[in-house]
Amino acid sequence: MGSFTIKENIERVSDKFKKNDLELCLMACIKKDRSFLYLQDSYKLSQSEQSEFDLSLEKLNASMPIAYILGNQPFFRSDFKVNSNVLIPRPETELIISETLNIGDKLHNEKNKIRVLDVGTGSGCIGLSIGKERPEWQITLSDISTKSTTVASENMRALDLSNCQILASNWFNAFDNHIFDVIVSNPPYIDQNSRLIDDGVLKFEPHEALFASQNGIGDIEVIIKTAQRVLKPGGFLIIENGYNQSRQVVNLLEEQDYGDIKVLMDYNKIARFTSSRKNNDG
Ligand SMILES: C[S@@+](CC[C@H](N)C(=O)[O-])C[C@H]1O[C@@H](n2cnc3c(N)ncnc32)[C@H](O)[C@@H]1O
Repeated sequence: MGSFTIKENIERVSDKFKKNDLELCLMACIKKDRSFLYLQDSYKLSQSEQSEFDLSLEKLNASMPIAYILGNQPFFRSDFKVNSNVLIPRPETELIISETLNIGDKLHNEKNKIRVLDVGTGSGCIGLSIGKERPEWQITLSDISTKSTTVASENMRALDLSNCQILASNWFNAFDNHIFDVIVSNPPYIDQNSRLIDDGVLKFEPHEALFASQNGIGDIEVIIKTAQRVLKPGGFLIIENGYNQSRQVVNLLEEQDYGDIKVLMDYNKIARFTSSRKNNDG
């Protein structure tokens, strides 16, 4: 089969797919920026570029998220490699980084080199973004999935971060007592019976990154109940939750005697994050 120009390629499928998705796929296939698509729209794709673009169309047609097709996703101030072994970083999760930086800045001083743990790190997007912003902090990233830690390690190398380390652990099992100043986590929190999930998410994103037991709160509960062992006295836990889980999260934190509980909103004014503090005598 022959190949088409940029203009013809967009026109022949523009009623089926989003224009931006088509442009991103074309840019990746011909390795040019967006201005080239507009200024040189009579450029005819080579046979191999056309085959690659046609393959991208098949993936779009199967509802594969564009980040998996391109193999990367911008998040905070970096680009993260992603594949179907890791959750695609979501824009709202960027807010947890700003909160962690604010809290850590208050704890950090010359004597106290602060240690942060990102549990359930997936692509590494949270921990590595924090590590990039604060090279003087020590960041540990962990995940139960070694396929995730492989992707996170590739991202760490690409970002050239020497203050981060990555390991596999079932939540806090791999860690000693009282070693972290801040724990941050975006754990799985979707109810297994939820019907509100997009087709592309359900078909392509790893289910162990999305779903949790007990109507979605199971992993959050385990983290809240076990994080105190590895937190230093006065250390902070900052956790993301589902759109309807904030009240339950606050109740669990109160039951476990955390203090300074603060609920934060996401870009859509949903109570999405909670920061809290382990008591000093804990
Ligand atoms: C919602 S994803 C978040 C990924 C990444 N932090 C982000 O924000 O894009 C949850 C992550 O928790 C990990 N996870 C699930 N169960 C775990 C466990 N028992 N211990 C450690 N990590 C776990 C999953 O493998 C997944 O990478």
